[in-house]
This record gives sequence, structure tokens and C-alpha cells, in this order.
Amino acid sequence: MKNLSFLRLALVSAVLVLSSGALLNRTMLTTQGASLPSLAAFTSVDAVALFGEKCAMCHNKHGEGLPNWRTKGQPDFTNADWQKTHTDAQIAAAIRNGEGKYMPAFKDRLSEEEIAALVGRVRGFAKKR
Ligand code: HEC
Repeated sequence: MKNLSFLRLALVSAVLVLSSGALLNRTMLTTQGASLPSLAAFTSVDAVALFGEKCAMCHNKHGEGLPNWRTKGQPDFTNADWQKTHTDAQIAAAIRNGEGKYMPAFKDRLSEEEIAALVGRVRGFAKKR
């Protein structure tokens, strides 16, 4: 008899521990979802491929730019100071409307979703190196 009630107690505690674990997990998931950095994370656009296709011939696939364009004022996306002094809206506007003499406008060739994904890609160059 004594053994049985011990078993029951053990079972109840196990269930309690398990369910509080599930609750904790769910809370953590929600917090992570809320702190996702940008909308770009939800898009189905393959921003790396898109950048490679439309931008890398001038900006290089690593984002630091190519020498002949750099001398024409092209920024280095891996530069932390450049990242700090440019907002997402400015980057999106540059992609949409072009910039200076040489950066072409892409608004007729890319959707807003693709532009948003490319803003995320440009931001991504800062984190490496
Ligand atoms: C024909 C070459 C060329 C292509 C293609 C090109 N860029 Fe550029 N980009 C430039 C040059 C040159 C500049 C510097 C413009 C200036 O400040 O005069 C520039 C500037 C930029 C800037 C900085 C704007 C600012 O506010 O300083 C961003 C962001 C950018 N490009 C993103 C992109 C993206 C994303 C693509 C692909 C969709 C792309 N570029 C395609 C040449 C190019």
C-alpha cells in the first residue's frame, strides 16, 4: 500500500514537471518570435541568390564592392560605420530609385518584397568578418 501511494506521488510530480517544461518552452518560442530582427526573415525570397544575380556584378557577392566602382563612391557594406549611418529606409530607397550617377534604379524590376529582402541581405554583410 505504501509503495503504491509513493508511485502515485512520483507519477503526479513527473506530470507536473513535464507540463511546466512544455509551458516554459512555449513562452521561449513566443519571445523568440517577437524578437525576430526584420520582416525579411519571413519572406520566401532567396535574398542571397537575388543579390548574386542583380547586385554582385558591382557590389561583389561579399558586399565590399569592386575597386572600379569603389573609386566612383560605392560604399563597402561590411563597414560598420556605413551600416550605422544608413537606415533601412535609405537602403530601400537607394535600391528602388538608384543613387548618384551609377547605381541603377530597380523599382521596375523588383517587387517591394524583393527590395525588403535585399535590405536584409545588405544588413547581413555587416555581421561577418
Ligand atoms: C551597375 C553597378 C551597380 C549595380 C548593378 C548595383 N549597384 Fe548599388 N551602387 C552602385 C554604385 C556605384 C553605388 C554608389 C552610388 C553613389 O553614392 O554615387 C551604389 C550604391 C548602393 C547603395 C548605397 C546607397 C547609399 O545610400 O549610400 C546600396 C544600398 C546599394 N547600392 C545596393 C544595391 C543593391 C541591393 C543592388 C542589386 C539590386 C545594387 N546596389 C546594384 C553600383 C551598382
